[in-house]
Amino acid sequence: MAHRMHAFETRPALAEALANRVTKALEAAIELKGSATIAVSGGSTPKAFFEVLSGKPVEWDKVTITLVDERFVPADNSRSNHLLLSTHLLKGPAAAARVLPLYHDAASIEEAAIIATGEARSLGAPFDAVILGMGNDGHTASFFPGGDHLAEALDLSLPRRVMTMEAEGAGEPRLTFSFSALYDARFLALHIEGAEKKAVLDKALAGSDENEMPIRAVLGRSATKPDIYWAP
Ligand code: 6PG
Repeated sequence: MAHRMHAFETRPALAEALANRVTKALEAAIELKGSATIAVSGGSTPKAFFEVLSGKPVEWDKVTITLVDERFVPADNSRSNHLLLSTHLLKGPAAAARVLPLYHDAASIEEAAIIATGEARSLGAPFDAVILGMGNDGHTASFFPGGDHLAEALDLSLPRRVMTMEAEGAGEPRLTFSFSALYDARFLALHIEGAEKKAVLDKALAGSDENEMPIRAVLGRSATKPDIYWAP
């Protein structure tokens, strides 16, 4: 699958362009069916994009925002993606959005995955927008090289769901949407910044081993052509 590359001179320019594109995707969905869904990634890269998006004039009360993946840590832990979302996106106009957190005060991470899967099903499918990040090891979402459930996570014949993932490179256990829940988003973007990640992307584009670099699944097998947003 070919991809579309959008390269920007600066990170603020990227944040503005991606926020405008996402705004269009959400507006189109609201126009079509009265509501919109978006799954965003955590980590450090999306902060500036979240800040810009939070101020966009979307009918936010018709939007449900969820996370592509989450670290299984308390909601006030500095590594929590939900905390990142609350701090940088759920403010200004975007504070009116409905949020579907992946982490619940469940007895176990397995139970949390089951609850989140049920809630995500109620949103309908596919997502109107999915924004992925990428780590320097070639992971995306929580599809980590060496992850205990990597094969199932990347298997498109399995139903859309939230699942658990543990991997040495991941730090804490994770909850992640399966690839089957992300690969056909109406708008599918990969947001990466810096020369190091560009080199990782180039390596991913040149090869095909998904166990080595799970991002290759997104680049090679998504039903939606991914839009890559990059700035140095
Ligand atoms: C997470 C993510 C993950 C992220 C990459 C990139 O919770 O870690 O959602 O998939 O997109 O790890 O993270 P950085 O932006 O911090 O480099």
